[in-house]
Amino acid sequence: MERDTILDHLFDTDHPEDILDRTRPFSELMMHYSSAMLEIQTKLEVLNAEMALHSSRNPFESIKCRLKSPLSIVGKMKRKGLPATVEAIENNIYDIAGVRVICSFPSDIYRLAESLMAQDDIKVFKIKDYIKNPKPNGYRSLHLILEIPIFLSTEKKYVKVEVQFRTIAMDFWASLEHKLKYKKEIGEAEDIAAELKQCADEISCLDNAMQSIRDKIDNI
Ligand code: GTP
Ligand code: MG
Repeated sequence: MERDTILDHLFDTDHPEDILDRTRPFSELMMHYSSAMLEIQTKLEVLNAEMALHSSRNPFESIKCRLKSPLSIVGKMKRKGLPATVEAIENNIYDIAGVRVICSFPSDIYRLAESLMAQDDIKVFKIKDYIKNPKPNGYRSLHLILEIPIFLSTEKKYVKVEVQFRTIAMDFWASLEHKLKYKKEIGEAEDIAAELKQCADEISCLDNAMQSIRDKIDNI
């Protein structure tokens, strides 16, 4: 039998003693994503420190990093109808390493994202601006898929990291919407969807209002 996926390798009960050898490519892959995530986090923290020094204000409030679990990775590959090989995973899943940056104001989101994308070691793979073009349900965030080099003992490798930027208010909405959506099958409940959409729009107005107050104070 030809064994070509990580799961087939893992569940090879004929040779249980080889489990470490068989899981190594996958452990290496996860190590690469976790290193890339760390690089992005450091870059953002450097920008935060520098901008805070110049404007005595932090461009982001908090930063959260998460690595997708092996089970979610395999599940996503299955849904896509793809084999869970290291190569297929690298070419088809862009959110294994995820960084979420929570800012106070929309303008800070763009300032940070632009500074990050301008760095000459970073390649911009994809930009999805759900702030300028909100999703039909009202979801707003700026998503970047970046490729960042990590330096291993014998090679330099570009690794993809998904960076999501949103304001505190957008994060509040997205977290609640996510919780509410997955608690029950409310997919069909149009009245709830409409109320959530209205809240998202109000939150956006609030963000813009707070932004203009800040701009006024800055110009005094
Ligand atoms: P996956 O869902 O990760 O396969 O991504 P995609 O290719 O559809 O990408 P997209 O950039 O649209 O979404 C990526 C991530 O953004 C999701 O995994 C969520 O974390 C977040 N997200 C996108 N849409 C919504 C939404 O409607 N509500 C909430 N709460 N989060 C969302
Ligand atoms: Mg995702």
